[in-house]
Amino acid sequence: MERLPYLRGRTIRNTMKLSRAAIFFPALSSILVFVTPTRAETGYEGWLRYTAIDDVSVRKNYEKTLPAGVVTPGHSDVEESAQAELIRGVHGLLNRTERIETTLPAEDAILLGTIDEVKKMVPTFAAPTDLIPDGFYLKTISVGGHRILVVTALNNRGVLYGTFTLLRKIALYESVAGLDDEENPYAPVRVINQWDNLNGTIERGYAGGSIFWANGHIVPDLTRVGDYARLLASLGIDGCSINNVNADPHAIDNEHIPELARVAAAFRPWGVKLFVCINFGSPKSLGGLDTFDPLDPRVIDFWNKKVDEIYAAIPDFGGFIMKADSEGELGPSAYGRTHADAANVVARPLKAHGGIVFYRGFVYNHHADWRNLKLDRARAAYDNFHHLDGQFDSNALVQIKNGPIDFQVREPASPLFGGLEKTAMALEVQITQEYLGQQRHLCFEVPMWKETFDFDLHAKGPNTPVKALAAGKVFHNPLGGFAGVANVGLDTNWLAHPLALANLYGFGRLAWNPDLSSGEIAEEWTKLTFGPDPKVVKTICDMQLESWPAYEDYTGPLGVGGLTDIIEVHYGPGIESAERNGWGQWIRADTNGIGMNRTAATGTGYTAQYHPPVSDTFESLKTCPDELLLFFHHVPYNYTLHSGKTVVQHVYDTHYAGVEQVRKFVQQWQSLQGKIDEQRYNQTLALLEYQVGHATEWRDAVCQWFFKMSGIPDKSGRVGNDPDRIEAESMKLDGCAVFDVKPWETASCGRAIQVVSADNHGSASFNYTGKPGWYDLAVQYYDQTNGVSQFTLLVAGEKVDQWLANDMLPSRNVKSLPNGHTSTRHTAHGVALRTGDEIKIDAVADDGERACVDYLEIEPARP
Ligand code: GCU
Repeated sequence: MERLPYLRGRTIRNTMKLSRAAIFFPALSSILVFVTPTRAETGYEGWLRYTAIDDVSVRKNYEKTLPAGVVTPGHSDVEESAQAELIRGVHGLLNRTERIETTLPAEDAILLGTIDEVKKMVPTFAAPTDLIPDGFYLKTISVGGHRILVVTALNNRGVLYGTFTLLRKIALYESVAGLDDEENPYAPVRVINQWDNLNGTIERGYAGGSIFWANGHIVPDLTRVGDYARLLASLGIDGCSINNVNADPHAIDNEHIPELARVAAAFRPWGVKLFVCINFGSPKSLGGLDTFDPLDPRVIDFWNKKVDEIYAAIPDFGGFIMKADSEGELGPSAYGRTHADAANVVARPLKAHGGIVFYRGFVYNHHADWRNLKLDRARAAYDNFHHLDGQFDSNALVQIKNGPIDFQVREPASPLFGGLEKTAMALEVQITQEYLGQQRHLCFEVPMWKETFDFDLHAKGPNTPVKALAAGKVFHNPLGGFAGVANVGLDTNWLAHPLALANLYGFGRLAWNPDLSSGEIAEEWTKLTFGPDPKVVKTICDMQLESWPAYEDYTGPLGVGGLTDIIEVHYGPGIESAERNGWGQWIRADTNGIGMNRTAATGTGYTAQYHPPVSDTFESLKTCPDELLLFFHHVPYNYTLHSGKTVVQHVYDTHYAGVEQVRKFVQQWQSLQGKIDEQRYNQTLALLEYQVGHATEWRDAVCQWFFKMSGIPDKSGRVGNDPDRIEAESMKLDGCAVFDVKPWETASCGRAIQVVSADNHGSASFNYTGKPGWYDLAVQYYDQTNGVSQFTLLVAGEKVDQWLANDMLPSRNVKSLPNGHTSTRHTAHGVALRTGDEIKIDAVADDGERACVDYLEIEPARP
């Protein structure tokens, strides 16, 4: 069947209704456009929308305080960007065009320039003495009786960052009168990683193909790359790597270096330096050597020449990122060399040009023996790097993931941040929501990151939070900072979910100033992205701030891990996928208990990697925080938490609460109808409704599984007891057959139905026995990627809804089966039922997708 993507997520009936209205009432549709309170927006502009301020008094104020002319004495690319951005922003926000002046006019003016440039024009100008590179100073001074608003910095990038900050102030309606604001970045390193492949796909990317690469080459048109750099620059991010950490060596071959130079040129006006991921085996695969031993003179020579070639084409090249000896990537262990040897062989030639190398701390054995209770993947980063402290060259940073495993919904801070004193570090977080709902679920990650940023590791007595360690502040390392894996894609709005860009924004803001609170960041982003309406701001901020706790609630509780299918796509539930394999994400569950024993006394010894008193806190059951209990301890299911609940009851309760929270998100969002442009409103609503279905799938999978393992019933009687649910396998089937879903917990009662008839047509029906009234009928089914099935819902012979299963769950290019990834829900709202009515699901299967249905749920109609 032909795919009809425009029907995705909508009923066919509704879609037809819409188009009929448009045909018969063309005038009406134009009136609707005219009276719509906000214009349609694609999200492409991100937080740099610069929409006109419509509050007259606010505008008037800026008209008084913001000078009409701008002088930019410097002519660097970056300063030209700053000036153009100022003009663009002021034009958008205030509908005024700043005059470009070449010298200070005899009137008020804005002066953009480095301190040296400003001083040439205003010799008496006094700059703060503690400004550091990339920091800036916004200062209103008086020259000859005129107000001059100075945006200045030590370097060009600082001038650009100051300009973006000035515009942000206006967009947030903050005063720009009498400015005297100095800001310095918290850390010198603030970079983005993109995991793009040369063929145009993106590792763990959920928003379309690569903006950088296609068919083995850098794309011809780099407009979007420049626009991305602008977004990054507006946050103070000054570096971006553009290829997968599982690196194709060819990214830096002679054919590609000129292409990389084009990307560097697109980045340059925004002060963003290009970084590239390298493959440690390159001396062999690219250089034709028979070795990649980092101590072999021929290998050293290969890297020296390669770095020189790159800098000849890209003089401001940022440097490399290297993943070695991890998840199948080649590394120094092949020659008995250390990670420091591996990092230094590229750090040395880079240093001569001012470049740096990020060496990934994400090194572990993915063929670990799961039967060995002393083995522990969480130990790996510390065990691999701690003893090498002091052996890395000064321009080599160890890039460490926030937690010791792999971007799970809850992990403790990696102890390695407290285990390196003489080595530069970068703290790596994941903006792309690999384990957090893949941008189909709302999940604002800033509060989660802040838990790590602010966690006190007591590495040098108290008050040594991870952020300070990573930034080099505790042990006085001049290098250090933050790396965020973003994976934006070709989707117009960059990250697919209209609310997901808050994560990119949040990362950038935290990298600049990790002392900002989650609430402040959410509020800024929302105002910039959706405007200042207090109801909109409050509602969206509330949703964002509740979203990570909700996701944790309905997925992986008590630090046990994500409970997702860890082998494949890391999306839906797949609880035992973590067990009995070499990947080391074990949850150590059996019928008696659950959790990894990571104690020093009887477990893997992981807790000893922390400094006291942190090690003691985690070691003891008495002091270990509930939310990390199963990360550190193996306990029985009826173990009582500090909260007073048992482990298993906590699991049940949080999972039900999590789904209720997502249902509330839908209502909160609906309360904004008419206050947000239709495009973003509808897109977000569809995603939130989808999230309800998938959160329900998560809840039921986890609860069923815990119930089966523990044998302990839910005190509130919810688990395994769904009176509103009619299992498909219990319906009258025609052309359909029952099958066992794998893993079993990803179907209600472990089973579902599929169409088996030769003509691809089947149905399932039952008679309604409840009271008459208005109901919502939710069909939980499996929407695979290998076909587009069609469903029709009939009540008493009347068609009440029809839809296509044409979503791409969970992402492209994976073997698509009925399971926790593909389980989804379609709700027919407001259906009138009478006792005895036949309810029938009619399905046409397509190709490999057999129109599989799990159950139908009848709930009182929601308003
Ligand atoms: C995760 C992710 C991989 C990625 C790896 C890394 O394991 O699933 O796709 O390559 O992290 O950070 O290197």
